[in-house]
Amino acid sequence: MAETDFLEAAEQAARLAGKVLGSWSKKFTVSEKSPANLVTEADFAAQEAIFDHIHTRWPDHGFLGEEGLAVDRTDSPFRWVIDPLDGTSNYVHGFPYYAVSIALEQDGEALIGVVFDPNRDEMFAVIRGHKALLNGQPIRPTEIGTLQQAMLVASLPVAVTPNDPAVARFLRVIPHAQTVQRTGSAALNLVYVAAGRIEAFWSSSLKPWDMAAGALIVREAGGRVSQMDGSEFAIEVPNVLASNGTSLHVELQQLLI
Ligand code: IPD
Ligand code: CA
Ligand code: CA
Repeated sequence: MAETDFLEAAEQAARLAGKVLGSWSKKFTVSEKSPANLVTEADFAAQEAIFDHIHTRWPDHGFLGEEGLAVDRTDSPFRWVIDPLDGTSNYVHGFPYYAVSIALEQDGEALIGVVFDPNRDEMFAVIRGHKALLNGQPIRPTEIGTLQQAMLVASLPVAVTPNDPAVARFLRVIPHAQTVQRTGSAALNLVYVAAGRIEAFWSSSLKPWDMAAGALIVREAGGRVSQMDGSEFAIEVPNVLASNGTSLHVELQQLLI
């Protein structure tokens, strides 16, 4: 099976999910999975559209999706890791910064990554070992090497409290950077690093489906992805530091410890 077939199917599924999100806008009802952790019918419907599209084609593949999707297949090396709507809070408020994130792992390593922003019709996509693309054009991170010139983004935990160490880290970085933002979609933040729109992104509270596609896109674009202390990145570990790969990565590491 050609990797391009997987990529094509992932892109198609992401576009289908984008349409589903659009069709639910202004109709959805909001539930709380836990305080401030929102979910809508659109999250579930988008996940179903992605699953149906891919599962029809590859019924033996495994799946992990945020909205209760877990299909374990010991007989297949492939597993799809899906966030049908990354940035649900933004979606609910009509703040147009959210995305569909789909990754395919082979033997536990990311092979394909797709992050689709339906508001801007931007498809970030990659096959491992190939160039990262935005709507078919190669992307790469900036060369800015100091925090003083950098725009940074962090994701804080849902329902974060003032005493959370993530808040202390956020405040610690602010005086060193040109600006620090919190935008509400980890998947988009990652691909914005890859596309040279921001210099770095970090979080200590992410799930595999938030990062699986975006982390591969950052790497293949030429950026660096690690844990916040610089150790090896793994989607099962909730913390991540993604950057343009310049010396500001280590500068940030020292502030985030
Ligand atoms: C959330 C977003 C947000 C991050 C949260 C995630 P969701 O994903 O990625 O940026 O701070 O931790 O849960 O719930 O909107 O898919
Ligand atoms: Ca998410
Ligand atoms: Ca989600």
